[in-house]
Amino acid sequence: MLTMSIPIKSGKEIKIMKEACRRAARIMSELETKIDCGVTALHLDSFAEELMYKLNCSPAFKGYMGYPSSICVSVNSEVVHGIPDDSRILKSGDIVSIDLGVKYNGFYADIAATFGVGEISAAACNLIKVAKDALAIGISRSVSGARLGEISASIQDFVENNGYSVVRKFVGHGIGRDLHEEPEIPNFGSPNTGPYLENGMVLAIEPMVNEGSYQVEILDDGWTAVTSDGKISAHFEHTVLVWGNNPEVLTTF
Ligand code: MF3
Ligand code: CO
Repeated sequence: MLTMSIPIKSGKEIKIMKEACRRAARIMSELETKIDCGVTALHLDSFAEELMYKLNCSPAFKGYMGYPSSICVSVNSEVVHGIPDDSRILKSGDIVSIDLGVKYNGFYADIAATFGVGEISAAACNLIKVAKDALAIGISRSVSGARLGEISASIQDFVENNGYSVVRKFVGHGIGRDLHEEPEIPNFGSPNTGPYLENGMVLAIEPMVNEGSYQVEILDDGWTAVTSDGKISAHFEHTVLVWGNNPEVLTTF
């Protein structure tokens, strides 16, 4: 079996990745201001793509395994990889997950967040909060010398203790010169497993949290993942640098 290794980024590479991540975060924060009732997913996609080129970076997802758009827009029971089109029109009470990646100067950045549209229910608000906090907990375990499984287990424990489930079908990933590098970062597992983290590893940690069961299905478009039970789902992702006891979130916005 071929053993893949986890790339360690040099100081120079980290500098470029910070620039890439700064751009991804800026685009996410501008997208947040655009989210409103009546806005289409396609509009968000065009806006994001234009801004990417303005900021001298390019859409990481477009063309990836044939993905047709620059960002993913997933609404309510859509978990991830919703393709932005005219038929997805945001309305009050929706929750919308936006996932975007950019390539800048040879390096990738990846970020996702879920937002409420207009007035959302207390249940939806709580799901979003738990998903966001789950990511923060996973990030806090991303310290040098820890095992990867500690990130996974901490996220799963927190989510399940709050009565929700973590999606199994999709996982986080290392990131750098490729959008997806070693290691895979599941949002479930046991703490004393997996590789040991080292300074200079860069991780895209991305819990997907379902209100009901963790089962998902893929729609006929070949991309959109939806919950099998039709309940809502939230998704947060940051690109994180492992650095001693102080993991650095590179995509803060
Ligand atoms: N954040 C997701 C990932 O890292 C987004 C990929 S969407 C795709 O896998 F279109 F690029 F596949
Ligand atoms: Co990702």
